[in-house]
Amino acid sequence: MPIEYRGLRDWLEAVDEMGELSRVSGAHWDREIGGLAALQERRLGQEALIFDQVPDHDPSFRVLTNTMMSNRRIAYTFGAPVDSTGVELVQHWRRVVSKLPTMPVKQVEDGPVNENIMRGEDVDVLKFPTPRWHEEDGGRYIGTGCVVIMNDPDSEWVNLGCYRVMVHDEKTVGLYISPGKHGRLIRERYWDKGKPCPVAVAVGQDPLLTTLAGIEVPYGVSEFEVAGGLRGAPTEVITSDVTGLPIPAHAEIVLEGFLYPDDMMDEGPFGEWTGYYAGGREPAPVMRVEAIRHRNDPILYGALTGRSPADAAYYRGLLRSAMIWDQVEGAGLPGIKGVWVHEASGARLWVTLSVEQMFAGHAQQVGMVASQCHAGSYANRFVVVVDDDIDPANNNDVIWAMSTRMDPATDMTTITGAWSTPLDPMSYPRDNPRYNNRVVIDATKPWTRLSTFPKTVEPPPEYQAELIEKWGDHLPGIRP
Ligand SMILES: Cc1cc2nc3c(=O)[nH]c(=O)nc-3n(C[C@H](O)[C@H](O)[C@H](O)COP(=O)(O)O)c2cc1C
Repeated sequence: MPIEYRGLRDWLEAVDEMGELSRVSGAHWDREIGGLAALQERRLGQEALIFDQVPDHDPSFRVLTNTMMSNRRIAYTFGAPVDSTGVELVQHWRRVVSKLPTMPVKQVEDGPVNENIMRGEDVDVLKFPTPRWHEEDGGRYIGTGCVVIMNDPDSEWVNLGCYRVMVHDEKTVGLYISPGKHGRLIRERYWDKGKPCPVAVAVGQDPLLTTLAGIEVPYGVSEFEVAGGLRGAPTEVITSDVTGLPIPAHAEIVLEGFLYPDDMMDEGPFGEWTGYYAGGREPAPVMRVEAIRHRNDPILYGALTGRSPADAAYYRGLLRSAMIWDQVEGAGLPGIKGVWVHEASGARLWVTLSVEQMFAGHAQQVGMVASQCHAGSYANRFVVVVDDDIDPANNNDVIWAMSTRMDPATDMTTITGAWSTPLDPMSYPRDNPRYNNRVVIDATKPWTRLSTFPKTVEPPPEYQAELIEKWGDHLPGIRP
Protein backbone atom coordinates (compact mmCIF):
# COMPACT_ATOMS: atom_id res chain seq x y z
CA MET A 1 0.00 0.00 0.00
CA PRO A 2 1.31 3.50 -0.73
CA ILE A 3 2.07 5.94 2.06
CA GLU A 4 -0.80 8.37 1.45
CA TYR A 5 -0.19 11.30 3.81
CA ARG A 6 2.29 14.06 2.97
CA GLY A 7 2.93 15.52 6.42
CA LEU A 8 1.74 15.66 10.01
CA ARG A 9 -1.52 17.48 9.26
CA ASP A 10 -2.60 14.97 6.62
CA TRP A 11 -1.68 12.16 8.98
CA LEU A 12 -3.75 13.68 11.82
CA GLU A 13 -6.78 14.05 9.58
CA ALA A 14 -6.60 10.36 8.65
CA VAL A 15 -6.10 9.28 12.27
CA ASP A 16 -9.11 11.41 13.26
CA GLU A 17 -11.19 9.66 10.59
CA MET A 18 -10.10 6.30 12.03
CA GLY A 19 -11.58 7.49 15.36
CA GLU A 20 -8.13 7.37 16.99
CA LEU A 21 -7.59 11.02 18.00
CA SER A 22 -8.79 12.70 21.22
CA ARG A 23 -8.66 16.44 21.92
CA VAL A 24 -7.83 17.85 25.34
CA SER A 25 -8.15 21.57 26.06
CA GLY A 26 -6.58 23.42 28.95
CA ALA A 27 -4.18 20.81 30.39
CA HIS A 28 -1.11 22.41 31.97
CA TRP A 29 2.37 22.15 30.45
CA ASP A 30 3.83 21.46 33.90
CA ARG A 31 3.42 17.68 34.43
CA GLU A 32 -0.28 17.56 33.49
CA ILE A 33 0.18 16.89 29.75
CA GLY A 34 3.00 14.42 30.55
CA GLY A 35 0.94 12.73 33.28
CA LEU A 36 -2.07 12.29 30.99
CA ALA A 37 0.12 10.97 28.18
CA ALA A 38 1.68 8.47 30.63
CA LEU A 39 -1.73 7.20 31.79
CA GLN A 40 -2.86 6.96 28.18
CA GLU A 41 0.12 4.81 27.22
CA ARG A 42 -0.40 2.10 29.82
CA ARG A 43 -2.18 0.04 27.17
CA LEU A 44 -1.53 -0.37 23.47
CA GLY A 45 -4.41 0.60 21.22
CA GLN A 46 -5.27 3.90 22.94
CA GLU A 47 -5.96 7.03 20.88
CA ALA A 48 -3.43 9.74 20.10
CA LEU A 49 -3.94 12.94 22.16
CA ILE A 50 -3.80 16.50 20.92
CA PHE A 51 -3.67 19.29 23.52
CA ASP A 52 -4.60 22.93 22.92
CA GLN A 53 -5.30 26.00 25.08
CA VAL A 54 -2.23 25.20 27.17
CA PRO A 55 -1.98 27.75 30.05
CA ASP A 56 0.58 30.59 29.65
CA HIS A 57 0.75 30.08 25.86
CA ASP A 58 -1.02 31.05 22.66
CA PRO A 59 -4.21 28.91 22.85
CA SER A 60 -3.83 27.81 19.22
CA PHE A 61 -0.36 26.28 19.79
CA ARG A 62 -0.73 22.52 20.23
CA VAL A 63 1.05 19.47 21.65
CA LEU A 64 0.60 15.99 20.16
CA THR A 65 1.33 12.78 22.12
CA ASN A 66 0.72 9.01 22.02
CA THR A 67 1.01 8.92 18.24
CA MET A 68 2.32 5.39 17.64
CA MET A 69 0.32 3.34 20.10
CA SER A 70 -1.92 1.28 17.84
CA ASN A 71 -1.21 -1.21 15.07
CA ARG A 72 -3.62 0.75 12.82
CA ARG A 73 -1.68 4.00 13.21
CA ILE A 74 1.69 2.29 12.83
CA ALA A 75 0.47 0.43 9.73
CA TYR A 76 -0.90 3.65 8.22
CA THR A 77 2.35 5.47 8.93
CA PHE A 78 4.41 2.88 7.05
CA GLY A 79 1.97 2.07 4.25
CA ALA A 80 1.02 -1.42 5.50
CA PRO A 81 -2.58 -2.73 5.49
CA VAL A 82 -4.29 -1.07 8.48
CA ASP A 83 -5.58 -4.36 9.91
CA SER A 84 -2.01 -5.80 10.16
CA THR A 85 -0.97 -7.67 13.31
CA GLY A 86 2.34 -6.94 15.04
CA VAL A 87 4.03 -9.93 13.38
CA GLU A 88 2.71 -8.83 9.96
CA LEU A 89 4.14 -5.36 10.57
CA VAL A 90 7.55 -6.93 11.24
CA GLN A 91 7.22 -8.77 7.91
CA HIS A 92 6.22 -5.53 6.17
CA TRP A 93 9.29 -3.85 7.55
CA ARG A 94 11.51 -6.72 6.50
CA ARG A 95 10.44 -6.28 2.92
CA VAL A 96 11.20 -2.56 3.18
CA VAL A 97 14.42 -2.73 5.21
CA SER A 98 16.09 -5.29 3.00
CA LYS A 99 15.67 -2.87 0.09
CA LEU A 100 16.06 0.38 2.05
CA PRO A 101 14.86 2.39 -0.95
CA THR A 102 16.12 5.95 -1.23
CA MET A 103 15.14 8.97 -3.31
CA PRO A 104 17.03 12.28 -3.43
CA VAL A 105 15.37 15.22 -1.67
CA LYS A 106 13.58 17.92 -3.67
CA GLN A 107 14.83 21.47 -3.07
CA VAL A 108 11.99 23.99 -2.84
CA GLU A 109 12.15 27.76 -2.37
CA ASP A 110 9.49 28.11 0.30
CA GLY A 111 7.03 26.12 2.41
CA PRO A 112 4.59 26.31 5.33
CA VAL A 113 7.46 26.09 7.85
CA ASN A 114 8.35 29.67 6.83
CA GLU A 115 4.92 31.08 7.79
CA ASN A 116 6.54 32.62 10.89
CA ILE A 117 10.27 33.27 11.35
CA MET A 118 12.05 34.60 14.45
CA ARG A 119 15.68 35.61 14.12
CA GLY A 120 18.39 37.02 16.37
CA GLU A 121 16.96 39.10 19.21
CA ASP A 122 13.41 37.92 18.46
CA VAL A 123 14.20 34.26 19.04
CA ASP A 124 12.06 32.91 21.88
CA VAL A 125 11.94 29.17 22.51
CA LEU A 126 9.64 29.80 25.48
CA LYS A 127 6.86 30.79 23.11
CA PHE A 128 5.96 27.13 22.63
CA PRO A 129 3.91 25.13 25.18
CA THR A 130 6.77 22.74 25.91
CA PRO A 131 5.76 20.26 28.61
CA ARG A 132 7.72 19.34 31.68
CA TRP A 133 6.90 15.72 30.98
CA HIS A 134 7.84 13.77 34.11
CA GLU A 135 7.84 14.61 37.84
CA GLU A 136 11.62 14.68 38.25
CA ASP A 137 12.66 16.15 34.89
CA GLY A 138 15.32 18.81 35.23
CA GLY A 139 13.53 21.10 32.75
CA ARG A 140 11.05 21.38 29.91
CA TYR A 141 11.92 19.11 26.97
CA ILE A 142 10.95 20.56 23.60
CA GLY A 143 12.65 17.68 21.80
CA THR A 144 11.27 14.21 22.53
CA GLY A 145 9.74 13.02 19.25
CA CYS A 146 11.99 15.38 17.34
CA VAL A 147 14.26 15.23 14.31
CA VAL A 148 17.79 16.57 14.75
CA ILE A 149 19.28 17.40 11.35
CA MET A 150 23.08 17.56 10.91
CA ASN A 151 25.44 17.30 7.96
CA ASP A 152 28.74 15.51 7.93
CA PRO A 153 31.58 18.04 7.37
CA ASP A 154 33.56 15.47 5.37
CA SER A 155 30.88 14.23 2.95
CA GLU A 156 27.43 14.92 1.49
CA TRP A 157 25.69 12.87 4.21
CA VAL A 158 22.78 14.53 6.04
CA ASN A 159 21.81 12.58 9.15
CA LEU A 160 18.53 12.68 11.04
CA GLY A 161 18.46 11.47 14.65
CA CYS A 162 15.94 11.70 17.46
CA TYR A 163 17.90 13.09 20.43
CA ARG A 164 16.36 14.77 23.46
CA VAL A 165 16.37 18.58 23.64
CA MET A 166 15.95 20.51 26.89
CA VAL A 167 15.03 24.19 27.09
CA HIS A 168 17.58 26.26 29.05
CA ASP A 169 16.24 29.74 28.21
CA GLU A 170 14.75 31.79 25.34
CA LYS A 171 17.78 31.28 23.10
CA THR A 172 19.48 28.16 24.44
CA VAL A 173 18.61 24.48 24.38
CA GLY A 174 20.65 21.43 25.43
CA LEU A 175 21.15 18.34 23.25
CA TYR A 176 21.83 14.94 24.77
CA ILE A 177 23.31 12.52 22.23
CA SER A 178 24.51 9.13 23.46
CA PRO A 179 28.02 7.90 22.61
CA GLY A 180 28.30 6.18 19.25
CA LYS A 181 25.19 7.83 17.75
CA HIS A 182 25.64 9.35 14.32
CA GLY A 183 24.82 12.88 15.50
CA ARG A 184 27.56 12.64 18.08
CA LEU A 185 30.12 11.40 15.56
CA ILE A 186 29.25 14.33 13.28
CA ARG A 187 29.41 16.86 16.12
CA GLU A 188 32.86 15.58 17.12
CA ARG A 189 34.12 15.92 13.55
CA TYR A 190 33.26 19.64 13.54
CA TRP A 191 34.78 20.13 16.96
CA ASP A 192 37.99 18.29 16.01
CA LYS A 193 38.39 20.92 13.29
CA GLY A 194 37.70 23.66 15.88
CA LYS A 195 34.43 24.59 14.13
CA PRO A 196 30.90 25.03 15.50
CA CYS A 197 28.46 22.29 14.48
CA PRO A 198 25.33 23.52 12.66
CA VAL A 199 22.08 21.93 13.84
CA ALA A 200 18.39 22.15 12.96
CA VAL A 201 15.83 20.58 15.28
CA ALA A 202 12.35 19.92 13.89
CA VAL A 203 10.01 19.43 16.84
CA GLY A 204 6.87 18.69 14.86
CA GLN A 205 6.93 17.12 11.41
CA ASP A 206 6.02 14.27 9.09
CA PRO A 207 5.62 11.12 11.28
CA LEU A 208 7.63 9.17 8.70
CA LEU A 209 10.67 11.38 9.36
CA THR A 210 10.19 11.19 13.13
CA THR A 211 9.99 7.42 13.17
CA LEU A 212 12.98 6.99 10.84
CA ALA A 213 15.06 9.43 12.92
CA GLY A 214 14.47 7.24 15.99
CA ILE A 215 15.88 4.01 14.54
CA GLU A 216 19.29 2.83 13.41
CA VAL A 217 19.29 3.69 9.71
CA PRO A 218 22.85 2.75 8.62
CA TYR A 219 25.79 5.12 8.79
CA GLY A 220 26.06 7.33 5.72
CA VAL A 221 22.40 6.91 4.66
CA SER A 222 20.11 9.93 4.94
CA GLU A 223 16.72 9.36 6.57
CA PHE A 224 15.38 12.17 4.33
CA GLU A 225 16.17 10.01 1.31
CA VAL A 226 14.82 6.82 2.89
CA ALA A 227 11.53 8.65 3.63
CA GLY A 228 11.40 9.64 -0.05
CA GLY A 229 12.13 6.10 -1.15
CA LEU A 230 9.46 4.57 1.10
CA ARG A 231 6.88 7.10 0.01
CA GLY A 232 7.77 7.13 -3.65
CA ALA A 233 7.84 10.94 -3.50
CA PRO A 234 10.83 13.08 -2.52
CA THR A 235 11.06 14.87 0.82
CA GLU A 236 10.72 18.58 0.12
CA VAL A 237 13.39 20.70 1.81
CA ILE A 238 14.36 24.36 1.98
CA THR A 239 18.07 25.20 2.25
CA SER A 240 18.46 27.36 5.35
CA ASP A 241 20.18 30.73 5.05
CA VAL A 242 21.13 30.40 8.75
CA THR A 243 22.87 27.02 8.95
CA GLY A 244 22.91 25.83 5.34
CA LEU A 245 21.02 22.73 6.46
CA PRO A 246 18.04 21.24 4.59
CA ILE A 247 14.83 22.06 6.49
CA PRO A 248 11.68 19.97 5.85
CA ALA A 249 9.34 22.42 4.10
CA HIS A 250 6.23 21.07 5.86
CA ALA A 251 7.68 20.91 9.39
CA GLU A 252 5.68 22.48 12.21
CA ILE A 253 8.49 24.06 14.24
CA VAL A 254 12.24 24.17 13.50
CA LEU A 255 14.97 25.57 15.79
CA GLU A 256 18.31 26.36 14.15
CA GLY A 257 21.67 27.20 15.59
CA PHE A 258 25.14 25.96 16.44
CA LEU A 259 26.88 23.74 18.99
CA TYR A 260 30.20 25.42 19.87
CA PRO A 261 33.16 23.32 21.08
CA ASP A 262 33.19 22.98 24.88
CA ASP A 263 29.99 25.04 25.25
CA MET A 264 28.16 22.98 27.89
CA MET A 265 25.43 23.44 30.49
CA ASP A 266 23.95 21.04 33.02
CA GLU A 267 21.23 18.93 31.42
CA GLY A 268 18.76 16.35 32.82
CA PRO A 269 17.64 14.38 34.62
CA PHE A 270 15.00 13.10 32.21
CA GLY A 271 12.57 10.18 32.55
CA GLU A 272 14.12 7.90 29.96
CA TRP A 273 13.10 4.91 27.84
CA THR A 274 14.51 2.43 30.35
CA GLY A 275 11.85 3.66 32.79
CA TYR A 276 14.29 5.46 35.12
CA TYR A 277 15.84 8.87 35.70
CA ALA A 278 19.15 7.13 35.11
CA GLY A 279 21.33 9.71 33.38
CA GLY A 280 21.31 12.23 36.25
CA ARG A 281 22.26 15.87 35.69
CA GLU A 282 25.45 16.25 33.70
CA PRO A 283 27.01 18.87 31.43
CA ALA A 284 25.77 18.47 27.84
CA PRO A 285 26.39 20.54 24.70
CA VAL A 286 24.11 23.51 24.17
CA MET A 287 22.70 24.86 20.96
CA ARG A 288 22.72 28.63 20.61
CA VAL A 289 19.45 29.18 18.75
CA GLU A 290 19.76 31.75 15.96
CA ALA A 291 16.41 31.25 14.25
CA ILE A 292 13.04 29.59 14.76
CA ARG A 293 10.57 28.89 11.98
CA HIS A 294 7.03 27.69 12.60
CA ARG A 295 3.72 27.16 10.89
CA ASN A 296 0.56 28.94 11.98
CA ASP A 297 -1.07 27.09 14.92
CA PRO A 298 2.02 24.87 15.22
CA ILE A 299 2.01 21.36 16.64
CA LEU A 300 4.79 20.27 18.98
CA TYR A 301 5.28 16.52 18.51
CA GLY A 302 5.90 14.74 21.81
CA ALA A 303 6.97 11.12 22.28
CA LEU A 304 6.75 10.38 25.98
CA THR A 305 9.51 8.11 27.22
CA GLY A 306 9.31 6.26 30.53
CA ARG A 307 8.30 2.92 31.90
CA SER A 308 7.33 0.61 29.03
CA PRO A 309 5.29 0.09 27.00
CA ALA A 310 5.88 3.73 26.15
CA ASP A 311 4.78 5.57 23.01
CA ALA A 312 7.81 5.01 20.82
CA ALA A 313 8.72 1.58 22.23
CA TYR A 314 6.07 -0.39 20.39
CA TYR A 315 6.71 0.72 16.81
CA ARG A 316 10.45 0.72 17.39
CA GLY A 317 10.24 -2.87 18.58
CA LEU A 318 8.58 -3.82 15.29
CA LEU A 319 11.14 -1.96 13.22
CA ARG A 320 14.07 -3.19 15.21
CA SER A 321 12.80 -6.78 14.93
CA ALA A 322 12.84 -6.46 11.15
CA MET A 323 16.28 -4.84 11.10
CA ILE A 324 17.85 -7.45 13.40
CA TRP A 325 16.31 -10.22 11.30
CA ASP A 326 17.81 -8.69 8.20
CA GLN A 327 21.23 -8.14 9.73
CA VAL A 328 21.43 -11.68 11.15
CA GLU A 329 20.55 -13.09 7.72
CA GLY A 330 22.99 -10.62 6.20
CA ALA A 331 25.71 -12.20 8.35
CA GLY A 332 25.01 -15.42 6.45
CA LEU A 333 22.78 -17.22 8.94
CA PRO A 334 19.81 -19.16 7.54
CA GLY A 335 16.70 -20.55 9.24
CA ILE A 336 15.38 -17.45 11.07
CA LYS A 337 11.60 -17.78 11.35
CA GLY A 338 10.71 -14.81 13.54
CA VAL A 339 12.15 -11.96 15.62
CA TRP A 340 10.43 -10.01 18.38
CA VAL A 341 11.97 -7.10 20.29
CA HIS A 342 9.75 -6.86 23.32
CA GLU A 343 7.85 -3.63 23.91
CA ALA A 344 8.19 -3.96 27.70
CA SER A 345 11.98 -3.84 27.30
CA GLY A 346 11.95 -0.34 25.84
CA ALA A 347 12.26 -2.02 22.43
CA ARG A 348 15.94 -2.82 23.04
CA LEU A 349 16.69 -4.81 26.15
CA TRP A 350 14.99 -8.10 25.23
CA VAL A 351 15.15 -9.76 21.80
CA THR A 352 13.73 -13.19 20.98
CA LEU A 353 14.51 -15.03 17.73
CA SER A 354 12.95 -18.27 16.53
CA VAL A 355 15.09 -20.48 14.36
CA GLU A 356 14.86 -23.77 12.49
CA GLN A 357 18.06 -25.42 13.70
CA MET A 358 20.19 -26.67 10.82
CA PHE A 359 23.58 -27.46 12.35
CA ALA A 360 25.36 -27.77 15.69
CA GLY A 361 25.98 -24.32 17.15
CA HIS A 362 23.45 -22.65 14.83
CA ALA A 363 21.22 -21.30 17.63
CA GLN A 364 24.11 -19.87 19.59
CA GLN A 365 25.56 -18.23 16.49
CA VAL A 366 22.20 -16.57 15.76
CA GLY A 367 22.03 -15.29 19.34
CA MET A 368 25.55 -13.89 19.34
CA VAL A 369 25.09 -12.06 16.04
CA ALA A 370 21.72 -10.62 17.13
CA SER A 371 23.30 -9.39 20.33
CA GLN A 372 26.11 -7.58 18.49
CA CYS A 373 24.72 -6.46 15.10
CA HIS A 374 24.18 -2.71 14.69
CA ALA A 375 20.38 -2.82 15.12
CA GLY A 376 20.50 -5.09 18.16
CA SER A 377 23.62 -4.15 20.07
CA TYR A 378 22.92 -0.81 21.74
CA ALA A 379 21.76 -1.34 25.35
CA ASN A 380 20.57 -4.89 24.84
CA ARG A 381 20.47 -7.24 27.87
CA PHE A 382 18.77 -10.49 26.83
CA VAL A 383 18.81 -12.34 23.54
CA VAL A 384 16.76 -15.54 23.65
CA VAL A 385 16.83 -18.06 20.81
CA VAL A 386 13.89 -20.47 20.56
CA ASP A 387 12.86 -23.19 18.11
CA ASP A 388 10.56 -22.48 15.19
CA ASP A 389 7.49 -24.00 16.87
CA ILE A 390 7.64 -21.07 19.33
CA ASP A 391 6.07 -17.69 18.54
CA PRO A 392 8.71 -15.15 19.66
CA ALA A 393 5.98 -12.51 20.16
CA ASN A 394 4.05 -14.71 22.58
CA ASN A 395 5.29 -14.41 26.17
CA ASN A 396 3.70 -17.70 27.22
CA ASP A 397 5.43 -19.57 24.40
CA VAL A 398 8.81 -18.00 25.17
CA ILE A 399 8.63 -18.62 28.91
CA TRP A 400 7.57 -22.22 28.29
CA ALA A 401 10.52 -22.79 25.97
CA MET A 402 12.96 -21.19 28.40
CA SER A 403 11.55 -23.23 31.26
CA THR A 404 11.68 -26.58 29.48
CA ARG A 405 14.41 -26.56 26.82
CA MET A 406 17.42 -24.89 28.35
CA ASP A 407 20.02 -25.85 30.88
CA PRO A 408 21.04 -22.77 32.90
CA ALA A 409 24.48 -24.30 33.50
CA THR A 410 25.39 -24.56 29.81
CA ASP A 411 22.97 -22.54 27.66
CA MET A 412 23.66 -19.00 28.86
CA THR A 413 26.61 -17.08 27.44
CA THR A 414 27.43 -13.75 29.00
CA ILE A 415 29.08 -10.94 27.07
CA THR A 416 30.86 -8.22 28.97
CA GLY A 417 31.92 -4.73 27.96
CA ALA A 418 29.14 -4.24 25.38
CA TRP A 419 27.76 -1.00 23.85
CA SER A 420 25.48 0.74 26.32
CA THR A 421 24.60 4.12 27.75
CA PRO A 422 24.34 5.99 31.05
CA LEU A 423 20.55 5.69 30.60
CA ASP A 424 20.85 1.95 31.28
CA PRO A 425 20.69 1.76 35.10
CA MET A 426 22.94 -1.34 35.01
CA SER A 427 25.67 0.15 32.83
CA TYR A 428 29.22 0.66 34.13
CA PRO A 429 31.68 1.98 35.26
CA ARG A 430 29.37 3.94 37.53
CA ASP A 431 31.44 7.15 37.37
CA ASN A 432 31.24 7.18 33.53
CA PRO A 433 28.77 4.51 32.40
CA ARG A 434 29.33 3.31 28.85
CA TYR A 435 29.30 -0.49 28.85
CA ASN A 436 26.95 -3.21 29.98
CA ASN A 437 26.95 -6.97 30.43
CA ARG A 438 24.40 -9.11 28.66
CA VAL A 439 23.38 -12.70 28.08
CA VAL A 440 22.53 -14.85 25.10
CA ILE A 441 20.20 -17.67 26.10
CA ASP A 442 19.89 -20.72 23.90
CA ALA A 443 16.38 -21.98 24.72
CA THR A 444 16.20 -24.30 21.74
CA LYS A 445 16.10 -28.08 22.11
CA PRO A 446 19.71 -29.34 22.34
CA TRP A 447 20.98 -30.12 18.82
CA THR A 448 22.29 -33.53 19.88
CA ARG A 449 18.86 -34.53 21.22
CA LEU A 450 16.66 -33.13 18.46
CA SER A 451 15.38 -36.53 17.33
CA THR A 452 14.96 -37.92 20.85
CA PHE A 453 13.63 -34.86 22.69
CA PRO A 454 10.24 -35.66 24.33
CA LYS A 455 7.28 -34.94 22.09
CA THR A 456 5.27 -31.76 22.67
CA VAL A 457 1.77 -32.30 24.08
CA GLU A 458 -0.70 -30.61 21.71
CA PRO A 459 -2.91 -31.53 18.78
CA PRO A 460 -0.77 -31.66 15.58
CA PRO A 461 -1.15 -28.50 13.40
CA GLU A 462 -3.17 -30.29 10.65
CA TYR A 463 -5.59 -31.72 13.20
CA GLN A 464 -5.92 -28.26 14.83
CA ALA A 465 -6.90 -26.84 11.43
CA GLU A 466 -9.44 -29.64 10.95
CA LEU A 467 -11.00 -29.01 14.37
CA ILE A 468 -11.19 -25.27 13.78
CA GLU A 469 -12.82 -25.81 10.39
CA LYS A 470 -15.41 -28.19 11.85
CA TRP A 471 -16.13 -26.48 15.18
CA GLY A 472 -14.92 -22.89 14.78
CA ASP A 473 -18.38 -21.35 14.26
CA HIS A 474 -19.70 -23.07 17.37
CA LEU A 475 -16.59 -22.32 19.49
CA PRO A 476 -15.17 -19.03 18.08
CA GLY A 477 -12.62 -18.92 20.91
CA ILE A 478 -10.67 -21.83 19.37
CA ARG A 479 -9.74 -19.75 16.32
CA PRO A 480 -6.19 -18.33 16.50
C1 LIG B 1 11.40 9.19 21.40
C2 LIG B 1 12.87 8.91 21.26
C3 LIG B 1 13.78 9.58 22.03
C4 LIG B 1 15.15 9.34 21.91
N1 LIG B 1 16.03 10.06 22.67
C5 LIG B 1 17.36 9.92 22.47
C6 LIG B 1 18.30 10.76 23.15
O1 LIG B 1 17.93 11.63 23.93
N2 LIG B 1 19.63 10.59 22.88
C7 LIG B 1 20.08 9.61 22.02
O2 LIG B 1 21.26 9.49 21.82
N3 LIG B 1 19.21 8.79 21.38
C8 LIG B 1 17.87 8.93 21.58
N4 LIG B 1 16.97 8.13 20.91
C9 LIG B 1 17.49 7.02 20.09
C10 LIG B 1 17.99 7.49 18.75
O3 LIG B 1 17.09 8.36 18.14
C11 LIG B 1 18.24 6.31 17.83
O4 LIG B 1 19.25 5.50 18.39
C12 LIG B 1 18.61 6.69 16.42
O5 LIG B 1 19.05 5.58 15.71
C13 LIG B 1 19.68 7.78 16.41
O6 LIG B 1 19.98 8.14 15.09
P1 LIG B 1 21.42 7.79 14.49
O7 LIG B 1 21.42 6.29 14.33
O8 LIG B 1 21.41 8.50 13.20
O9 LIG B 1 22.40 8.29 15.47
C14 LIG B 1 15.60 8.38 21.00
C15 LIG B 1 14.68 7.70 20.19
C16 LIG B 1 13.33 7.98 20.30
C17 LIG B 1 12.36 7.28 19.39
